[in-house]
Amino acid sequence: MKIAVCPGSFDPVTNGHLDIIARSSKMFDKVIVAVLRNSSKNSLFTIEERVELLKSTCAQYENVEVDSFSGLLIDFLKLKEANFIVKGLRAVSDFEYEMQMALMNSKLAPEIETIFLMTSNKYSFISSSLIKEVIKLGGDISGLVPAQAEEELIKRFNIGG
Ligand code: PNS
Repeated sequence: MKIAVCPGSFDPVTNGHLDIIARSSKMFDKVIVAVLRNSSKNSLFTIEERVELLKSTCAQYENVEVDSFSGLLIDFLKLKEANFIVKGLRAVSDFEYEMQMALMNSKLAPEIETIFLMTSNKYSFISSSLIKEVIKLGGDISGLVPAQAEEELIKRFNIGG
């Protein structure tokens, strides 16, 4: 069984993430979306909230599960008996850091492959941080994040309230 992990912070999930998850779900038997538990990162949503948002947006994909992890990503993959890490590449600017992580993960666990999917053109400019900045300053983020995430962001920033 080919099991892939799509790791990330997902604070919150965007349509760019969802695009990668949806495409991965067609390539692998099972896809585990893994939210990093990282207490040092200043996040808007708690781990539980991020997991819940992902669960409701990924419910449409039968072979996609959502979980969280701490520690090394490769240890989470071993625990789940997964052999593939799937990451989205938006632009050349993503490449250097992603390449470094892929090579380090491959050094630590040679049996695990990192697969990069090019983000769809229409989502290539989206990032969770930019979404938060735009909504905080009153901009329109519709079509850039799943409806559930948009609702939560609107509540969080008390827009129109
Ligand atoms: O959405 P992000 O913040 O770009 O995701 C980064 C993530 C979670 C993929 C990365 O930080 C990670 O894998 N962290 C787990 C710790 C780890 O394994 N570090 C060594 C990676 S080479």
